[in-house]
Amino acid sequence: MQVFIGLFLIISLTSILASTPALILTRLIKKNLTDQARKLSAVNPTLFLNRTTYSGYLTVDEKHNSNLFFWYIEAENHRPDTPWILWLQGGPGASSLAGLFDEIGPFEYADSKLKARKWTWAKDHSLLFIDNPVGTGFSFTDSPKGFIQDMATCSTHLYVALRQFLMVFPELRKAPFYLAGESYAGRYIPALGVKILEQDRSIGILDVNLQGIILGNPVLSRESIADYSSIYFQWGLVDSQGVLAVKPLQDAYNKALKNDDSDKAMLLREELLTRLDDISMQQQTFNILSDNISHLDEFTVYLRQPIVRQALHVGDIKFNFFNSTVHKSLTPDFLSEIKSKVEMMLNHYKMLIYCGQMDLTAPCVPNAQARRRHWHWNYRDQFLNASRKPWWFNNKVAGYVKSGGYLTEVLVRGAGHLVPMDKPAETTELISYFIRGLDMKLPPNYQVLAQDTPPYVNDEFEGISKTIYEFPEGHSSSGTKVAMVISVVLNVLLVLGIVCGVVYALRWKRRNETYMYNTMEENNIVSTMF
Ligand SMILES: *[C@@H]1O[C@H](CO)[C@@H](O)[C@H](O)[C@H]1NC(C)=O
Ligand SMILES: *[C@@H]1O[C@H](CO)[C@@H](O)[C@H](O)[C@H]1NC(C)=O
Ligand SMILES: *[C@@H]1O[C@H](CO)[C@@H](O)[C@H](O)[C@H]1NC(C)=O
Ligand SMILES: *[C@@H]1O[C@H](CO)[C@@H](O)[C@H](O)[C@H]1NC(C)=O
Ligand SMILES: *[C@@H]1O[C@H](CO)[C@@H](O)[C@H](O)[C@H]1NC(C)=O
Repeated sequence: MQVFIGLFLIISLTSILASTPALILTRLIKKNLTDQARKLSAVNPTLFLNRTTYSGYLTVDEKHNSNLFFWYIEAENHRPDTPWILWLQGGPGASSLAGLFDEIGPFEYADSKLKARKWTWAKDHSLLFIDNPVGTGFSFTDSPKGFIQDMATCSTHLYVALRQFLMVFPELRKAPFYLAGESYAGRYIPALGVKILEQDRSIGILDVNLQGIILGNPVLSRESIADYSSIYFQWGLVDSQGVLAVKPLQDAYNKALKNDDSDKAMLLREELLTRLDDISMQQQTFNILSDNISHLDEFTVYLRQPIVRQALHVGDIKFNFFNSTVHKSLTPDFLSEIKSKVEMMLNHYKMLIYCGQMDLTAPCVPNAQARRRHWHWNYRDQFLNASRKPWWFNNKVAGYVKSGGYLTEVLVRGAGHLVPMDKPAETTELISYFIRGLDMKLPPNYQVLAQDTPPYVNDEFEGISKTIYEFPEGHSSSGTKVAMVISVVLNVLLVLGIVCGVVYALRWKRRNETYMYNTMEENNIVSTMF
């Protein structure tokens, strides 16, 4: 270690004079100089609270000179059998370093300082962050053709990168390995997982000890991100007028989803969310209860410092917190099918899907419903039969867990889209328990009762609405006549009330329109990206 640091100091002293180019490990790996690659990728620990970390680039497409940036953080309590986790951010186009600095990494940037994060996944697990796809974060490509458009290329790039990474860090081959990702990465991960499961012989064997999958608020099916009007309505953010106001947009979006029109669907989704946010004065869609999430990219201030850039071996590559070209390039993928890959993974590996209850971006309930209705893997019945139980943490209910048939589904109470940021202690425990195969704690004295866990029925909610809305027919009497008269009178009054209300609202709206729209912020990319 001492030697590493010494070597590093010499390198950084000599190179401060002439800025070093980005460190592309692939060139060394190809010459079998993996030890040298490892030494060169060591990051000056004094800039990062003395943690042992490594960073650099792995070439994934030589033709377009596309390179993925990685940052590997060794666990604080590292041992040969310490599990390691690959973390991928969603977006598509958001840097995985957002996950590092804002959610799960060992340090955060706050009050213009780098600080140790109190709750981090990096205590008992080593973490590998990869800026993916190409063009995201510190990753780059030299050609407009380098941007990916589908999950096949995405998984190939990640597979190629992991293969090289493991040549430099071979001790990780035997350690338990987990794939983790958030939001749109819910699509990258199953694609990569299937590639690891099946192995891509044209690239070479990826000798790795994959044990499981972790997905946070994943975007896995179109129906789970379809009916945003209802979500806003059910949360009370809009009333039926609001639903009517966005109906043309919602209908157009539904139609685009139905017609498999990715281009239109992606745009309409953003428009619909923006409109619903405008009506409800919601600042963003990540957490119903937060007003300001503008701190998310504050860490980029630290990453822009020349000495930090030097330490991370990024040469003169610019950092993109969010790359809109990457985002747009993936438009054709937006509606492509991923379910069969998830099912294949569930037949072989354990999977944790956690979801923040307050998320509007990829809301939990329709996601959970889509899983129950449409996912068919070998152990589906075990999952469906498992009882959903409260999870007890710090003398409170932290959420709800349903676990069976290799799938653990957790709703995290009070968290939003970025669950580890909103509920750091809870999420750290959740990950640790999942990886170690432990059940989450039950509240004291809580009993799972047989009568509370009837067998699953596919359309149970349609069942409920039927009983509420369908009235038995054919029983007219004098009583009902009186009721009818009263009802007619009440309805006339109601209509008058609505008319007055609408007239008043229109006047009010005209008065306030200028004010409303002038104060709307322009930076709405965050409110609609995953
Ligand atoms: C690469 O180096 C290792 C030792 O560091 C050696 O065992 C191996 O044979 C080398 N492979 C090639 C292709 O030179
Ligand atoms: C890092 O290590 C150095 C030398 O051991 C020590 O002086 C310094 O206080 C440490 N910094 C932190 C943030 O722990
Ligand atoms: C996205 O990435 C490309 C390729 O690295 C880069 O040239 C471009 O400036 C980035 N665009 C944005 C909007 O960040
Ligand atoms: C949000 O918070 C940031 C600091 O984190 C502050 O600079 C900004 O003015 C706040 N924006 C609003 C709309 O409150
Ligand atoms: C699930 O429950 C149903 C109905 O109680 C039962 O028939 C079935 O055997 C159960 N399946 C499993 C895998 O436990």
